Amino acid sequence: MTRRMFLSGSAALAAAGPRMVFAGRAEDVLEAKPAAADLGHPGGAKTGIWGYGGGTPGPVIRLKQGERLTRRFVNNLPQPSSVHWHGIRIANAMDGVPDITQPVVPPGGDFLYDFTVPDAGTYWYHPHNRTWEQLARGLYGALIVDEPNPPRVDRDEVLLIDDWRLGQDGMIHEDSFGSMGDWSHNGRLGGFVTVNGRSDYKARARSMERLRLRLVNTANARIFTLGLVGMTGWVVALDGQPLAKPEPVTEVTLAPAQRTDIIADITAPEKTANGGGEAFIYGRFRDQRIALCTLTVEGAARAGALPPPEPIATNPLPPLGNLGKAKTALLRMEGGAMGAMHEATFKGQRMGIRELIGHSRVWAFNGMAEMPKTPFLTARLGETIRIKMENLTAWPHAMHLHGHHFKKVGADGTTGPFRDTLLMQPEETAEIAFVADNPGKWLMHCHMVEHSASGMMTWLLVS
Ligand code: C2O
Ligand code: CU
Repeated sequence: MTRRMFLSGSAALAAAGPRMVFAGRAEDVLEAKPAAADLGHPGGAKTGIWGYGGGTPGPVIRLKQGERLTRRFVNNLPQPSSVHWHGIRIANAMDGVPDITQPVVPPGGDFLYDFTVPDAGTYWYHPHNRTWEQLARGLYGALIVDEPNPPRVDRDEVLLIDDWRLGQDGMIHEDSFGSMGDWSHNGRLGGFVTVNGRSDYKARARSMERLRLRLVNTANARIFTLGLVGMTGWVVALDGQPLAKPEPVTEVTLAPAQRTDIIADITAPEKTANGGGEAFIYGRFRDQRIALCTLTVEGAARAGALPPPEPIATNPLPPLGNLGKAKTALLRMEGGAMGAMHEATFKGQRMGIRELIGHSRVWAFNGMAEMPKTPFLTARLGETIRIKMENLTAWPHAMHLHGHHFKKVGADGTTGPFRDTLLMQPEETAEIAFVADNPGKWLMHCHMVEHSASGMMTWLLVS
């Protein structure tokens, strides 16, 4: 099934959804620039944002598994930037990390990204320079890689969920960029939540229609708890990687940068003169459920429910191999408010916490409050790696590894599904395992981007 067929089935994506761009032309441009966006602020103000293609979210980039993606990134922002293709097992030179995989792209500059996508699934792209500011200003977009044989659904909805910190005037709250209060706590949270750049995101659906919902958390730091009303859903993939068995949805926890693919059947009755006719994706905020996406149910797709979905075919990830023979490493995560970190290394020097705060560094990995000059781990190509992560802080963290997908290893040795970003709770210890099959320098960091900017960032070398 192709995108075109989804679109011909319904006009629902036409209005507020992200704009479509088709891959394949040699010199497609991805331009980052300031723009104004109507996020649905009650005052009616347009918010000054930074967006790819002049909107937020940027264009949905969509291609087939194994295809080549070529984009000339053009930086028309007032500061240097780069594009990271989150979750793609990409060639290292295309990973978009300034000073590690490429020079940063200055204002007015450009960079050609050109790579193939090995895995199908839901991915996204975002800057990797001053991410705490550039992401918060709206620079992100979805990257969708279609399976050769996608699951049968009536329609595909890409839903990028974000929280914005806006002032009364509906403009981005700039004074709090770089706030150490945020950086040492939860990161920058915002009270204004959008789906695909709208606080009142709406789409149309039919009763008994089967949708594929691709949920992406593009927030700087907020962990979303999401649920469905008027739909029965199954989780079919996490961070782009299909689950062996679809799992019925109750509520979904989506940490920053994580994705969850759901296949959902609309069970709400169609709208009649007597009412009915709405289904929702809600967000849970403390004890309140708030509709983030409203689906108006008009007409019926079929008379009865479809059978539950089949699993999606897996991607060509290497099997983990013998975990007993894996190379092991330890990552100690320290710092933050109410933490026990007294000192760490910055600019090659041991510093006390006061001095570190003066340098905007409040977290550390293995005692380093900056990117170390040498990798925290060196792997041979093809080697199985186990990393034990000890969260010695009072805060949750969303741990992300570039260039690979990993599995969480349980205390009993059982492994979870493949992911690229793992949510860790305060004081939690977790272990991940992966095969280091992608040569290069790969970042590992917390995706609460204020945390990574203030110390939670390291790298490993696959040689
Ligand atoms: Cu979305 Cu370095 O990551
Ligand atoms: Cu963190």
